[in-house]
Amino acid sequence: MLNENTIKVIQSTVPALEVHGEAITSHFYKTMFTNHPELLNIFNHANQKQGRQQAALANMVYAAALHIDNLAAVLPAVRQVAHKHRSLGIAPEQYEIVGTYLLKAIKDVLGDAATDEIIAAWAEAYGVIASVFIDMEKELYESTENQSGGWEGFRSFRVAKKIKESEMITSFYLVPTDSKPIAAYQPGQYISLRMKPEGSTYTQIRQYSLSDAPGKPYYRISVKRESALADRPDGVISTYLHNHIPEGDVVELSAPAGDFTLETEDSRNVVLLSGGVGLTPMISMLNTLVASHAQRQITFIHAALNGETHAFRDHVNTLTEQHEDIQTFYCYTQPTDDDRAKSRFHKEGYIDEAWLSQIIRQPLDSNYYLTGPIPFMQAAYAALCEIGVAPEFIHYEFFGPKTNLIPV
Ligand code: HEM
Repeated sequence: MLNENTIKVIQSTVPALEVHGEAITSHFYKTMFTNHPELLNIFNHANQKQGRQQAALANMVYAAALHIDNLAAVLPAVRQVAHKHRSLGIAPEQYEIVGTYLLKAIKDVLGDAATDEIIAAWAEAYGVIASVFIDMEKELYESTENQSGGWEGFRSFRVAKKIKESEMITSFYLVPTDSKPIAAYQPGQYISLRMKPEGSTYTQIRQYSLSDAPGKPYYRISVKRESALADRPDGVISTYLHNHIPEGDVVELSAPAGDFTLETEDSRNVVLLSGGVGLTPMISMLNTLVASHAQRQITFIHAALNGETHAFRDHVNTLTEQHEDIQTFYCYTQPTDDDRAKSRFHKEGYIDEAWLSQIIRQPLDSNYYLTGPIPFMQAAYAALCEIGVAPEFIHYEFFGPKTNLIPV
């Protein structure tokens, strides 16, 4: 454990980190990739370009520094990252590389302000933080490999079937090429998919939520074609999967991971609230609840642009008709004339407090699961809190580097 003086030195650098955190981490990535280009095979290049990964790592290092005398306070955040690292196959020896370039970046950015004492304190603190991650990841690696159907690293899967779920989203049914059993998973978990698109120097890895109930002989992922926006190009992997990976092709997957999962031991009612492609883990949760005949009331709320981009609508409508425990509500921001003619949605515009308070069952003691684009999640989280839902019942996950929904 760190001694009192080291803790004091670390805490005295927190204000400097607040100001220079992102400059330090972007410098860190630049020098690390120059010296270890092989790491470009595992980092998401799109996140790097948008600076999202820099922000995620900077926030985490800052949070750890802030709580260095009580790392238990950051353990839930560490757990989520440890799942991501395990899914990517991060190895203990890679922590040394990260540590070396992180300390060098602190020194380079802070200049003379980073005294030998400060650098030594950070080296010690990094060692403690890294060992918390390494220990947690070791446990996750062991439990994954020892699980029936589990495996180490990446395994080949064939695309057995591709099904278009909406204008933007296509499902891929993936079966192992070795025809051996596949690991069970918890609804809400994701896999990492690794591939090397034609013409690319490096492999690329992306996480996709599993979109069906566990216990099937396949894994299903449902991928949104990420078209270019003003501030970013087409999603390289999502577009490649849609356009260049036909049925019969082979991709590589790591075993399911993730700590955003349905509480299956709990008898609380369930509210599944999603925006856009955020509905994929919700479909897995819904299918699991139906398959397990859980005596729980389910409210399925989904926000989409319109009926054309709304995936799994027929599937969810059929389940809703068959099960009186399920109630379903759709909110479209830009409904088409056809959507209006066919009364496909319940609200036009954005999800807000007034609407949620009408459709969500009382008392407010369900478990509330939330996924979707960041602005949607911020609005939905705030609306749930305003109608009186206690934050400890709200479970959420970001696609992409994690951000905090609760203002700090
Ligand atoms: C993701 C923190 C060590 C590789 C992340 C994320 C955080 C983080 C906060 C974002 C998680 C999310 O997506 O929600 C840390 C900290 C570390 C550490 C605090 C050291 C104590 C490492 C090491 C490697 C690594 C040693 C491997 C060289 C990655 C990769 C991602 C990631 C590849 C996914 C990023 C992407 O694909 O854009 N890490 N990490 N990390 N980390 Fe780490």
